[in-house]
Amino acid sequence: MGRTIVVHSYRGGTGKTIVAANTAYLLAARGKYVCILDYDLCAPALHRVFGVENVRAWLNDFFAGQCGVADVLNDLNKQLGIEGGRLCAGFANPDGQAIKEMLRLSMDQEWCSRNFQDLLRLRSYVLEDLNYDFLIIDTMPGYQLLSMNALAIADDVVVVTVLDRSDIEGTLGLLEAVYRILQKQPRVIINKAPVGLGEVGKRIETVRRVFRQRLKLEVLGVIPCSCDIPLMFGERLIAHTMPEHHVVRALEQVVKALLKE
Ligand SMILES: Nc1ncnc2c1ncn2[C@@H]1O[C@H](COP(=O)(O)OP(=O)(O)OP(=O)(O)O)[C@@H](O)[C@H]1O
Ligand SMILES: [Mg+2]
Repeated sequence: MGRTIVVHSYRGGTGKTIVAANTAYLLAARGKYVCILDYDLCAPALHRVFGVENVRAWLNDFFAGQCGVADVLNDLNKQLGIEGGRLCAGFANPDGQAIKEMLRLSMDQEWCSRNFQDLLRLRSYVLEDLNYDFLIIDTMPGYQLLSMNALAIADDVVVVTVLDRSDIEGTLGLLEAVYRILQKQPRVIINKAPVGLGEVGKRIETVRRVFRQRLKLEVLGVIPCSCDIPLMFGERLIAHTMPEHHVVRALEQVVKALLKE
């Protein structure tokens, strides 16, 4: 069966969505069958990153029992010119009322337990019925119940951190309080690293040492900070638009590491 990769972080804004979306694209461009879900139901973003205008059904509709599982998957092959592989996506409803509703429901333990069953159904459809290679789940940051749902079904947890001390410490906190309890061995991506500036090299090495030697966690990649990413205004995929970019090269290393299993 294919693998479920969950992209998580301690704080918001570390780059989960960029990493998840570009990784999904790069895997599909290498011939893999990939489905990506915007499970950040309280702050949807993936529909914009993939430039999708017309969404037939949102993940919200599926979770509310208002549509079938096949209805929520949007085929992205044609618009991204992917040949050989497959990329489809389930998007979350960005409408203000829908987000308010999700904020309310995401704190309701019973609803979240039911949602877990729906997520399992979605995974089984993608990985067993459709026989896809990867299900990639972009999550909410931190300790949200819905993040726990996604982490619980992960084969691979990828935790995206930046170099700020609070993010590193927050990631260590997640390791103790969540990942170990769920028996997950996360792998780390250090994003927005201002490579080549000042003392940054030393800082990256120290952080790598902490993760690798002290905690035995693999660092999947260090992704440079680049103004070309915000310049895409969350409307485009850098791996698709600028395939030779140094950020994409760093992401390619991540993809290689994910394919090693
Ligand atoms: N390597 C990078 N260099 C420069 N800017 C980056 C980089 N990665 C991400 N960004 C910028 O950081 C912001 C947050 O990125 P993104 O939305 O992927 O993070 P996130 O972890 O998904 O956030 P949230 O928790 O809010 O969902 C975006 O404006 C994006 O353009
Ligand atoms: Mg995000």
